[in-house]
Amino acid sequence: MSIGEFSSRCGLSPKVLRSYAEAGVLDPAAVDPATGYRYYDAAQLEEAETVRLLRRAGVGLAEIARFLGAPTLDALDGWERSLIAETLSRREALAQIRCRLGPGPMRTRGATVIELRPVRDPEELATAFDLLGAQLPQPIDSNDWRFDDLADRFPADQPIMVLAAADGDVVGGALAFREDNGAVALRIVGVVESFRHRGIGRRLVERVETGARLLAAHTMALGTDEAIGFWYHLGYTPHLILQWAYDPDLYEAESEAVLSGPLSGLRFWRSSFNQIPQLFVELDEPRLDLRRTVQEAVAGCHVGFMMSKKFPAAS
Ligand SMILES: CC(C)(COP(=O)(O)OP(=O)(O)OC[C@H]1O[C@@H](n2cnc3c(N)ncnc32)[C@H](O)[C@@H]1OP(=O)(O)O)[C@@H](O)C(=O)NCCC(=O)NCCS
Repeated sequence: MSIGEFSSRCGLSPKVLRSYAEAGVLDPAAVDPATGYRYYDAAQLEEAETVRLLRRAGVGLAEIARFLGAPTLDALDGWERSLIAETLSRREALAQIRCRLGPGPMRTRGATVIELRPVRDPEELATAFDLLGAQLPQPIDSNDWRFDDLADRFPADQPIMVLAAADGDVVGGALAFREDNGAVALRIVGVVESFRHRGIGRRLVERVETGARLLAAHTMALGTDEAIGFWYHLGYTPHLILQWAYDPDLYEAESEAVLSGPLSGLRFWRSSFNQIPQLFVELDEPRLDLRRTVQEAVAGCHVGFMMSKKFPAAS
């Protein structure tokens, strides 16, 4: 078919088709030597659609030419990874500017004006913890041991204990503290239900991340069984944590069994918390299926996630 007909069927203009051909992408099936007219084959329509989609994904022509020669899923995975990395780095840059502008109001997708600000005093820390704890599927309050580190570190770590308020009412928060090893532990994050999905959770976490970097932290980490997709979306790497709260002999046998069974080939390290032995397994993505499999394999063992994000060294 002529370049005009091919263009109208594939949605790429003749000018674009000519520039692609110069870059070695979508070469015409034939060129009339007398007139120089280009002709395309109907079988090239599918290739044209692939090219159109790859351009939409921001892939350069030289890379597209290589991909069309030898299409692989690895290439797609690579582009997806760099896309996520670029988005994270651009968001990070915007978050840093937002932080420099100070604790001004933010307008959420729902048009409500939200103020992000640090927790004001120890009483507010306790009330905020109660409110955020009530958002968890298994609610906790400030009598829980998880409140104690936050209370101990206030006010030294006040910049990383951030609340979101609408019309003066607290509607969410992210409370973190510095650990002795230079990492920041995000202890609890929550947004009241009617304010969710408006970007408040993400802004809260970004604000704490920026505060953590200003306090020279190298990593942010949290242990959670909830909202794993939310953390993964924000650039946190998942580790499966297995915690044995019972017989140490069982721990030895069962940890060996899962390491040579469902977890074989994965990198891991061992640790302990309050004398409870723990196994940390590195994952590329939050494998909820693997978590279920391990949970079934080790009766009574708690299987959850630790999510962490390393900050690039300051330039
Ligand atoms: C998890 C929670 C804090 C998210 O708050 P939120 O204000 O609704 O989140 P946001 O609107 O900022 O979402 C940020 C991004 O994460 C995504 N996201 C939100 N929840 C998600 C989930 N459960 N899985 C996957 N992605 C999710 C959103 O699509 C959004 O993407 P975008 O910025 O590209 O649009 C909130 O759902 C909550 O309070 N849950 C109960 C408490 C809890 O489980 N806390 C976490 C453990 S401490």
